Amino acid sequence: PAAADPCQEIHSIPVDSLALQQQIDELSTFSDSPAPSVTRILYSDNDVVARRFIKNLMGRAGLSVREDAVGNIFGRWEGSEPDAPAVSTGSHIDAIPYSGKYDGVVGVLGAIEAINVLKRSGFKPKRSLEVIMFTSEEPTRYGISCLGSRLLAGSVSLAKALTQTVDNANISFLDAAKSAGYAENEDFSSVFLDEKSYSAFVELHIEQGPILENEGISIGIVTAIAAPASIKVGFGGNGGHAGAVLMPQRNDAGLAAAELALAVEKHVLESGSVDTVGTVGILEVHPGAINSIPSRSHIEIDTRDIDEKRRNTVIEKVHESAVSISKRRGVDLLEFKIVNQDPPALSDDSVINAMESATQLLGLSHKKMISRAYHDSLFMARKAPMGMIFIPCYKGYSHKPEEYASPEDIANGVKVLALTLAKLSIN
Ligand code: GLV
Ligand code: MN
Ligand code: MN
Repeated sequence: PAAADPCQEIHSIPVDSLALQQQIDELSTFSDSPAPSVTRILYSDNDVVARRFIKNLMGRAGLSVREDAVGNIFGRWEGSEPDAPAVSTGSHIDAIPYSGKYDGVVGVLGAIEAINVLKRSGFKPKRSLEVIMFTSEEPTRYGISCLGSRLLAGSVSLAKALTQTVDNANISFLDAAKSAGYAENEDFSSVFLDEKSYSAFVELHIEQGPILENEGISIGIVTAIAAPASIKVGFGGNGGHAGAVLMPQRNDAGLAAAELALAVEKHVLESGSVDTVGTVGILEVHPGAINSIPSRSHIEIDTRDIDEKRRNTVIEKVHESAVSISKRRGVDLLEFKIVNQDPPALSDDSVINAMESATQLLGLSHKKMISRAYHDSLFMARKAPMGMIFIPCYKGYSHKPEEYASPEDIANGVKVLALTLAKLSIN
């Protein structure tokens, strides 16, 4: 007789929502800002404690744990065909300043619980299954997003740049990584994945937008991830006394930055598409005194679009504006640096199909959608067929303390993930 379909067994095994919620809550206490906000910055003390927490959970799930030179953490469940490319899943646990406790975390703790569900069901993987906790998906400390997955995907320029990079407090990446117990091997190309490491990568994540909640749908199946870019700009002027220097004599670096911030909004709106977005989330003036004309300013611009060409047009226009503003205001354009300018990524049909049949087996409503936020999946897609599972979150809130996803929605996501991993593992 034909062997029983293992997915039918898995289907009936409950997710331990109580334990999972306790883990989410405990992880949120490893934070540099007070609850309900979460701030967890790369290689900080709280990040190191949080990493220990994750490794411990991986170990308790029976996974064998390994870390690379930048602290990507891998928990592996060896399959019956250990030499075949593995099926991987995961996300990040770093948190931007004053954010919430679900972004990324659901995709790491939820992945470990998905493994637990599979183990409780008696499932035996054919391809090995791996849970990955990626280092620094958020750009907070060293200015580069998806640091761990970018390196896994083989970014030679990043591997080089990291040996020279410092943070705002002038702490080098190398020193910070070493203080957290990493970078013993300073050759970050050691992180690059082999071509045949993974046969698929799946990431579970909160939607970070309102669509699923508004439409009452349980699961979002991501078909594409929008193309992100970020730019650093610096202006310099003469500064001086806020009372004594008369207006015609000024070249105010702060006003140049303010004008460029407005130009970003204008150029984004000129695209005519709601899919084009731009944000100035950092705007600093020096010396930062009420009675001193800013002599230096620094702004950081985030712009994204599902259409890469249209996003690139915004970048060109922002550059032209930066040049013309500096000329007109007599300030120096000290820096115009495109930090990253990434293409979008497409999910793979094989993973989409596995996710879709998982939701059908579970009787969950689902919808195909794009991800406007970026994720480590954007880079894992360069190394393996990729897919993402979204779950609803309260009012679409994210990157703020009010972020929330219900235990039921998280459990649905974990079940879809468990079934998807199982299907991909026996393929
Ligand atoms: C990820 O946090 C993003 O900014 O999209
Ligand atoms: Mn985020
Ligand atoms: Mn995230």
